[in-house]
Amino acid sequence: MAKTVTENIGEFYQHYPKVAAILTVQAGGLKNAMAVAWHSSISFKPPLYGVSIAPKRYTYQLLLESKEFAINFLPFERAALIASVGGSGGKEVDKFKKFSIEEEKPLKTSAPILRDAYATYECRMVDNREYGDHIWVVGEIVAVHFVSDVLTVRGTLDMNKISPALYLGAELYATVDATSVRFLDREVHARR
Ligand SMILES: Cc1cc2nc3c(=O)[nH]c(=O)nc-3n(C[C@H](O)[C@H](O)[C@H](O)COP(=O)(O)O)c2cc1C
Repeated sequence: MAKTVTENIGEFYQHYPKVAAILTVQAGGLKNAMAVAWHSSISFKPPLYGVSIAPKRYTYQLLLESKEFAINFLPFERAALIASVGGSGGKEVDKFKKFSIEEEKPLKTSAPILRDAYATYECRMVDNREYGDHIWVVGEIVAVHFVSDVLTVRGTLDMNKISPALYLGAELYATVDATSVRFLDREVHARR
């Protein structure tokens, strides 16, 4: 396959798809939600999770106040909600009202937990560093909410029960289903 090699990086989307999630935050009685695709686990011990947020986001202002946030993982059927909170500004509109977002009680933080999420990580901010035009926010996961029904005995997402919401960039969303899952034991494969 012919490859193009370029130093003209532009907005790079070659590493997508990414799981699209909804970050929620609450400070001083004000709450907000935004879509995030630039997020990652960082460490098991302590459990750390990172997310890259542009400082101009209203969410970031609230996050600086509360120093707490939650990352909510929603199924593909709720991708339109991800697009909604990722296409509107919380300074102008109450997204929870406008998009009829249902909440559940957080355990350790003030961040709203989304009822439609199959899993949510409640995080306390432990670091925030500027990298280029975004801030890398690191949170310690202090509580995990999840629907135990959607996990296999291995603790992985059961693709027969949940279709994750993947973001391809350019407003395109996709998912994967159980037929695409392969078990490739790394020990077995390393011996070959
Ligand atoms: C699928 C998707 C993923 C996004 N990922 C991020 C992200 O990781 N970081 C970020 O700063 N903005 C991201 N955005 C943009 C914000 O969600 C968007 O600017 C939102 O309107 C910010 O809301 P706020 O101003 O109420 O905070 C994403 C948008 C979409 C639709």
